[in-house]
Amino acid sequence: MCGIVCYTGEKNASKVIKKGLEKLEYRGYDSAGIATVGNPSLKVSKGEGTINQVLNKELDGNTGIGHTRWATHGKVNKTNAHPHTCSKEKIAVVHNGIIDNHEELRKELGEERFKSETDTEVIPHLIEEQLKKTDDLEKLCRNVINKLEGSYAAVAVLDTGEKIAFRKGSPLVLGVGEDEYFLTSDVTPFLEHTRKAVFLEEEDYVIIKDDYQIYNSGEKIDREVKQVDWNAEQASKKGYDHYMHKEIEEQTETVKRAAFQDRKDLQKAVKLIEEAEKVYITGCGTSSFAAELGASYLRETGTDVEVEQAHELEYRKDEISEDDLVISMSQSGETADLLSLLNKVDAETLAIVNVVGSTLDRNSRQSLYINAGPEIGVASTKAFTGQLTVLKLLQYALEDKTEEGRKELVQTSEKISETLENSRETVREASKYLSDKEDVYFIGRHRSRFVSKEASLKLKEISYIHSEAFPGGEFKHGTLALVEQGTPVIGILTGKGENDTLSNLVEAKSRGADIIGIGTEEKTGFKHFIEIPEDSNTEILETVVFQLLAYRTALNRDKDINPDRPRNLAKSVTVK
Ligand code: G6P
Repeated sequence: MCGIVCYTGEKNASKVIKKGLEKLEYRGYDSAGIATVGNPSLKVSKGEGTINQVLNKELDGNTGIGHTRWATHGKVNKTNAHPHTCSKEKIAVVHNGIIDNHEELRKELGEERFKSETDTEVIPHLIEEQLKKTDDLEKLCRNVINKLEGSYAAVAVLDTGEKIAFRKGSPLVLGVGEDEYFLTSDVTPFLEHTRKAVFLEEEDYVIIKDDYQIYNSGEKIDREVKQVDWNAEQASKKGYDHYMHKEIEEQTETVKRAAFQDRKDLQKAVKLIEEAEKVYITGCGTSSFAAELGASYLRETGTDVEVEQAHELEYRKDEISEDDLVISMSQSGETADLLSLLNKVDAETLAIVNVVGSTLDRNSRQSLYINAGPEIGVASTKAFTGQLTVLKLLQYALEDKTEEGRKELVQTSEKISETLENSRETVREASKYLSDKEDVYFIGRHRSRFVSKEASLKLKEISYIHSEAFPGGEFKHGTLALVEQGTPVIGILTGKGENDTLSNLVEAKSRGADIIGIGTEEKTGFKHFIEIPEDSNTEILETVVFQLLAYRTALNRDKDINPDRPRNLAKSVTVK
């Protein structure tokens, strides 16, 4: 994981990089640091915590690199924070990924020169060694890359002001501004400066002196400079206290945008599904619940579909043939488990993804974009409902009812604000009630069981309350034993199985549970009941309410919780 920002131009580099790193904190935030090419030498400032905690004064220089870390190798402390430097402190490096052969390289380079426990530190030492042999930076990059095994997006700045960068398996984007360049993990850090971007390809390396040159395997490459659709305002909090809250509230717009898929792309996706012998649909985390719901939609069209999380599906790779189709669900398009699976199968590939130009997008035969705009809160919200929208639209398109389906989805999107508005008071009360609980159970049946899984994940990841979700029918086969006086059990009372879920809630209540319900018609006997409008895409409306419930519960539980950055987690999980 980890976020990288490199800047070179006419502005104060540390100021630009610091602001950029704040945008990347969703990638990790246990430590941070910046190095600038000052006069006369490199200046490095780093430590534990976020960049705002680490850097409270500007560093001089117009060129620099910065990093926000999610630790993999070496504990969280100042020494292990990036940037890492070579022995003579003339080269500083930031890195995202894992260098698999770092122990071997350490031995080769001489253990005594190392200061940190990180795999990253081998890179500045390798560059230092190569600089003794050549001043041709292209050759130097090639030689360094040849030594590295594993995954990396790495940027190095030399005290002479030159920048070199290389990527393999981890994302790196070049932002091209007026007399300034950026190298970043995604586009959000440079949107307020430029919307021109080059998405670097696997094994590309870049040298920036006065302008930039991109190479791959010794060849100079002309990569297309693309205009990014996202803008700086979309990546801001727009007056909300947290990105997560803003991202929940903007779903009226994002679901509508997801419903307007490019007609040709939708048709190509339909064709891929129709021609596939078998469809595998996959994802991780929240995206895996979208995959589960998506599988239930596609099954209704007669498609032979299986669903499994990417890290598990990889163990079944031999079952997947070239006549099959793998549909990958992902917000970031950079989730390592997903990319690793795709590398190992010969099947056709369709991505349903938010980040245009991401590795998943580029490596898939066909992509459908969620169009949710930048999602910055670590816990996925609007990307999930966008994924459901695209999957539903696919179902309608497979049934030859695209326009009818689109209209219904637009109507659903228009009910989101109303749903949030009407449920606000009950959500507030229910979240106060939940905030001091230790365990919360969610139940639902048929499609609602997947919504209940997402609701439960949302609650546990941002409020740290233990929570689990079950199909209503399963609850009494074990977990009911944990219900005591006052245990909260939340049930989804919509769709097929509504009445059976109600019976399961009543069973829990008679064993002491406090029951909370969500449904289209208020029922009695509930501690809290959240009413939502009738709708053919009710899972989208239920989800937005549960997102708000999780958000409010986290804030009520502990004022020190930052729902945008839950402890130990990162948004983009680029390691396996
Ligand atoms: C992380 C995030 C989740 C996300 C999952 C999959 O665990 O914290 O919010 O659902 O990765 O990410 P993706 O970008 O592939 O949807």
